[in-house]
This record gives sequence, C-alpha cells and structure tokens, in this order.
Amino acid sequence: MSDSPREEIFSSLQHIAIIMDGNGRWAQRRHLPRLLGHRAGVKAVERIVRATTSYHIPYLSLYAFSTENWKRPQTEVKGLMSLFKFYIRKKIDELREEGVRLRFAGRIQGVPDDIREIMYQAENITKDGERLQLIVCLNYGGRQEILDAIQHIVRESDGTDITDETFRKYLYLPDVPDPDLIIRTSGEQRLSNFWLWQGAYSELYFTSVLWPDFTEKTLKDAIDSFEKRDRRYGGIQS
Ligand code: IPE
Ligand code: IPE
Ligand code: MG
Repeated sequence: MSDSPREEIFSSLQHIAIIMDGNGRWAQRRHLPRLLGHRAGVKAVERIVRATTSYHIPYLSLYAFSTENWKRPQTEVKGLMSLFKFYIRKKIDELREEGVRLRFAGRIQGVPDDIREIMYQAENITKDGERLQLIVCLNYGGRQEILDAIQHIVRESDGTDITDETFRKYLYLPDVPDPDLIIRTSGEQRLSNFWLWQGAYSELYFTSVLWPDFTEKTLKDAIDSFEKRDRRYGGIQS
C-alpha cells in the first residue's frame, strides 16, 4: 500500500501525454511574435513537470514538434530549434537533481546535428532519474513511428508471427506504458499524428485553454475528469 494519498488516488494514471497547442494564438492575441508564444509555452512546461512530479505520476510525454511542423515558416522553425537547444541545455542539471529522466521520441536523425548532440547528452546525464520520465516528442509522427517499426521488422525478420507484443518492441520507447490520458489544449479536437499506436485506448481530454495559460489547476481538472471515466477496453462496464 502506498503511504501517500495522492499516489493512491492516481494509481491508475501512469502516463499523461499532452499535445501542447495554441502558443501561436496566445502570442497573436497579444500582438506579439509567435516565438514569444513558444517561449511562454516553456514556462507552462516547467509548471506542469513540477505538478506531475508532485502527483507521483511516473510518465509525462509532451508533443513539442511534429514531423509536419517543418512546413512552418523558416524563421519559426529556426526559433523553435534554438529554443529547444537553449532550454534542454539550461535544464539538464536541474532535471537530474530532481530525479527527472529526460527521453526523446521521434526521428532523432532528422534533427539538426547540434541539437541531436545535446539531446543525447541530456538523456545520458539524466538516465538515473527515477521520479519522473519526461518524454519530449520532437520531430515525432505516429505514422512515421509505425513505418520506422515496420522497416526495422522487415530488415530483421521474415515478418511472420507479428503480434501486438512483438510489434511494440520496435516502437521508439517500447518500455514506456501507453498513455492513460491524452490532453490537447487550445480547443482543437484532433490527434495531429500523436501516439497513434499507443493511444488506441487512451482517454482524451480537450480544453480551450491555450498552452501558455495551462496551469496546475487545468491539469487537475483533466485528472479529475480522467478519474470519472470508465475504461472498458472493449469489455463491459465494470
Ligand atoms: C503548439 O502551438 C506548438 C508547436 C506546434 C510547436 P502552435 O504553434 O501550433 O500554436 P497555434 O496552434 O498556431 O496557436
Ligand atoms: C500539433 O500541433 C503538434 C504539436 C503540438 C507539436 P499543430 O498545431 O502542429 O497541429 P495542427 O496543424 O493544428 O493539426
Ligand atoms: Mg497549433
């Protein structure tokens, strides 16, 4: 039995995944450049990492940059890449001290060399963190992940006897449990290529709050809603 009431309440919630959307609109509403919206988004990330740790939820994944986001104007893409580089480097030591293990999911080979190098360093330096696994999905696409897995399987085997369990081993982070709850901010109600395989039975929560305005309270509202759901997995009501 757990000695923490919070741990007990949320014991069915192992992995929260967030599609952090609305940074651009947050900035536009203030007549600011979109990049300032992304910077404000980083502050929300800091708040939510702290809150998730305090709830003893062991996995948090954040959709930071999709395989489709390269379509954006060069200035925005460049700005986002510098923000990732700056932020990851700045946070490595603090995350390690707080017991946070940082991991990345996505086509890492498609990320600029200097950023990829820092991503590897960060994973390595924080690898012993046991309080929270923080998964940043960068150059991530669910379809691409499935295609990468298939290519891997085709190279390694004759493709017979592929089951859910064997297929899973070829995903980017096979040891990470499927997200229990996927939250999307900014009022959009779509997955935009996020966790397509892993999200098959995730509970979905949509809020109109723009990502930079996302607070501990918004997170708590999402968790409260999750706690009321009846997860059936195709079975009957429990
Ligand atoms: C989400 O905010 C952040 C990324 C996709 C990197 P957006 O930049 O998509 O913000 P909106 O949707 O344009 O408001
Ligand atoms: C999804 O947001 C990707 C991330 C949050 C990183 P987008 O803003 O790119 O998605 P669409 O274009 O509205 O579907
Ligand atoms: Mg968006």
